[in-house]
Formats: sequence, C-alpha cells, structure tokens
Amino acid sequence: MKPEENYSLRGYNTFGMDVSARYFAKFTNEDTLDALARTKEWQESNPLILGGGSNLLFTKDVDKLVAYNQIKGIENRGGDDEYVYLHVGAGEVWHDFVMYCIANNYGGVENLSLIPGSVGAGPMQNIGAYGVELKDVFHELEAYHIEGRYFVKFRAHECHFGYRESVFKNKFRNQFVISRVTFKLRKQPKFNTTYGAIEKELEKMGVHELTVKAISDAVINIRRSKLPDPAKIGNAGSFFKNPVVSASQFEILKLKFPEIVSYPSGDDYKLAAGWLIENCGWKGFREGDAGVHKDQALVLVNYGGAKGKEIFDLSTRILSSVHEKFGVDLEREVNIY
Ligand code: EPU
Repeated sequence: MKPEENYSLRGYNTFGMDVSARYFAKFTNEDTLDALARTKEWQESNPLILGGGSNLLFTKDVDKLVAYNQIKGIENRGGDDEYVYLHVGAGEVWHDFVMYCIANNYGGVENLSLIPGSVGAGPMQNIGAYGVELKDVFHELEAYHIEGRYFVKFRAHECHFGYRESVFKNKFRNQFVISRVTFKLRKQPKFNTTYGAIEKELEKMGVHELTVKAISDAVINIRRSKLPDPAKIGNAGSFFKNPVVSASQFEILKLKFPEIVSYPSGDDYKLAAGWLIENCGWKGFREGDAGVHKDQALVLVNYGGAKGKEIFDLSTRILSSVHEKFGVDLEREVNIY
C-alpha cells in the first residue's frame, strides 16, 4: 500500500479549503487499515484520520499522512421483538445510513437526518439534533488502537458521551480509529417531537399520523431552510457549542438581557450561542469570502475563496465580542487543524 504524495484535500472537507496532504491513502476494511498502519508514511508521525471532513477547519497544509476512512457496509445483526442491531462501517455516509433506517422503518435516527459527515464521526462528538443524540441509539463500536495495532470494543458507558463530547475527543484523542459502529434501533418507533420546530413543520406538512419518514422529512425541511448546504456554501455546521452557564450567572444575564434564549440543563442553563452571536451584530457579516450565515449565526461560511486562517480569525473576533458583551466564553465545536 503506497500512499499518494501532495494530495489536494479540497474535495474532502465541507469548508472547501484547498490545502494539501503530504501523503494520502484510503482504507476500506480492517485489513487495509492495519496494512496502512505498517507503512513508513503512517509511522513517521501520527496520521490525520479523515471521515466526511464535515467538522474540520484546515488552516494549513497537512505535513503528514491523511488516512481516509472508507470502511463501508450496513449489516443487520438481528435483535429481539423490540430492537434491531445494525453493524455499520465508519466510512458510510451518515445520511445514507439514516435513509436505510427510514426505508426499513427502524426508529431512532430520523431526527438526525441530513447531518453531514460519516458514521464514524458520529460517536466521536456524539452528534445531535432536534432533541436526539447519537448516544440514544448507540450500542457499541469497534476501534483500532493506533500504537498497539489491535482492535477493541467500546460499550456505551466506556465512550463517556456528553454534549458534543466523547472519550475519543478527550482522553483518547488521536489514539483510535473508529472502524465500525453498532446501533440499536426500535422496530416499533417511539417518536421524539419535543423540539418545537418539528411539531410546527409537521403541521405545515399536513401530517396527522407520525412515521419515521414524516419526521425525517420534517427535519430535512427545517435544516434546508436554515442551514447552508455544504455542496453550495462551504461550512461545518455549528462552529461553536452552545455554552452552559450556572443558574446564578444566568439570572444576572436574564435581568440584563430579558430576551436571551436558553434551555435548562440540569442545575445550569444552556444558552443559544446563535442568539448571543446575532446580538453582537454578526449575523450575515461578510469580509472577503469569510462570513457568518445569514439565517443561523452559529454557522461560519466560506463563500468560495476564504482561507482557513480567515475563518479562524473571524471566529476569534466573535469569541471576543461575545465575551465582552455577555461575559460568556464560547467554545469552538469544529476541530481546527
Ligand atoms: N438563534 C438566534 N439567532 C441565530 C440562531 C439561533 O436567535 O442566528 C436562537 C433562536 O431562538 C433559535 C435558537 O437560537 O430558536 C436555537 O437555534 P437552532 O434551533 O438553530 O439550534 P442551535 O441551538 O443553534 C443546535 C445544534 C445544531 C442542531 C440544532 C437543532 C449545537 C452547537 N448546535 O443548534 O447542530 O442542528 O441545535 O437541534 O448544539 C451542529 O452541531 O453542527 C448543528 C448544526
């Protein structure tokens, strides 16, 4: 297995950054992953493992091996009266997997329709939308230990899933390659329409009987109406996480900014970062080809020729102004390379 040299990554990241990789190779199963891990290009330095490239901002060329995860396949592993277990290659496109579930009337991932990226990136940051998170349908995963060159299984509790968090982003960062994920889906779906926008959209669609297909369609409509399509405008979804503040800090903010959008989160409050950013005047901002989306201030966009550094610098300016106005520190959700 010989990695290619000086390979353009433009088509491999949803921000559309035209950077190059010193070496590039893809792996399609466990054996080719293991073979790649034995090459000198891999061993020279810790490789960058790439999935859908939808949560990543490149600010420079990658001076090492980029290993592209293309492990595919959806295998039905049976189940019981209530659940079916699907064993899915980490390189499958997330939305294709969701569509497979919808076609088979398996419930659990319909609220997660149209999230860009690959299946393997799902557990990495516990993707979530419209009241559902990946952890709600997760059973276990298999991952390759980069240094030890062996495969291990992680059960749900071992992944330490949190809000856009897992052990793979923290303690085990850059140590494992997720190869396959097993999901546990409901044969008799239970619907989650707690997120107000879904109810409204279903009503607009004239849906009276809930199905996984109807919810998926509603989610797709909502996402298309406010999130830019990465195939048209470069972006990586929410650029920042919604920050969590203590109840006392929230009370002070609420007095000063009665309109602030928030959700209770245990004893604390989660704030809508989009609202904070919009209220600092950034929504629709554009400088050169770097900007803040006009319909969702949490999403930074590349109108074509922006460099990663320009998007990054814009994000730093946003962090400072939110800090200055609200005293709240936003955290980037997107991985910066
Ligand atoms: N809002 C504004 N201005 C904005 C954007 C939002 O005032 O420009 C306020 C509105 O009141 C809106 C509320 O914030 O009702 C919430 O906005 P939205 O429903 O768009 O959700 P979000 O909290 O901004 C999160 C996730 C999204 C996910 C949606 C729906 C994070 C960081 N983002 O966004 O996930 O699709 O909820 O569940 O948690 C992603 O992670 O890439 C992503 C797109």
